[in-house]
Amino acid sequence: MIFDPKEISFSDTHKIMIGSIVPRPIAFVSTISKDGKNNVAPFSYFNGVCSNPPTIMFAPARRAWDGKRKDTLNNIIDNNEFVINLVSESFAEKMVACSTDFDSEVDEFKISGLSPKESSKVKPPRVGESKISFECELNQIIEIGNGDPGSGFIVIGTIVLFHIDDEIYDNGKILLEKFEPLGRLAGNLYTRPNDNIEIIRKIKPK
Ligand SMILES: Cc1cc2nc3c(=O)[nH]c(=O)nc-3n(C[C@H](O)[C@H](O)[C@H](O)COP(=O)(O)O)c2cc1C
Repeated sequence: MIFDPKEISFSDTHKIMIGSIVPRPIAFVSTISKDGKNNVAPFSYFNGVCSNPPTIMFAPARRAWDGKRKDTLNNIIDNNEFVINLVSESFAEKMVACSTDFDSEVDEFKISGLSPKESSKVKPPRVGESKISFECELNQIIEIGNGDPGSGFIVIGTIVLFHIDDEIYDNGKILLEKFEPLGRLAGNLYTRPNDNIEIIRKIKPK
């Protein structure tokens, strides 16, 4: 089967994208508004970019029904700072509770019962329940598309501080079984990285 995105609907294209690009890591992004309101929301169009300087990207789309920018992006445009909190299974339901497009006045920490914890180098709080958080400063925002609903933005950030729970860190390694990260699949499905295979690179460069 072949599909030309110019000939199918945006929602069918979206389904192909989120069903194909799996599993996706989840950035649970905390920000603060101009008037000091906390905000936290999940984004699974998320990845690392490079490690020197440590750089990440995530992509907040325009809202599907009215094309407006999401609160997370507005807060980053206003303040240039955010925290990427990684998601463990222990607070997955609370993370999902933060994914409703609430009014910008709503503090999702309060809705979900998650605990805001003061950051060290940036103003937005981190998520206390998160076993790994990255304090980030904005590098740049790239707009993609023509501003229609579902078009979006790439937010690129530089990590200025890593927080890693002592329990999940051993001699330079993150302990996956203690971290218990969740991956996003399509729809309401999530996955655990607990069925792993090791593949050793046999061909070495000359
Ligand atoms: C696991 C998960 C992943 C999500 N990933 C994205 C994403 O990559 N991009 C996006 O625009 N919205 C994504 N959403 C939806 C946003 O979380 C949702 O629109 C949220 O209300 C935005 O909040 P804000 O307006 O406070 O920024 C995701 C939702 C869930 C539950």
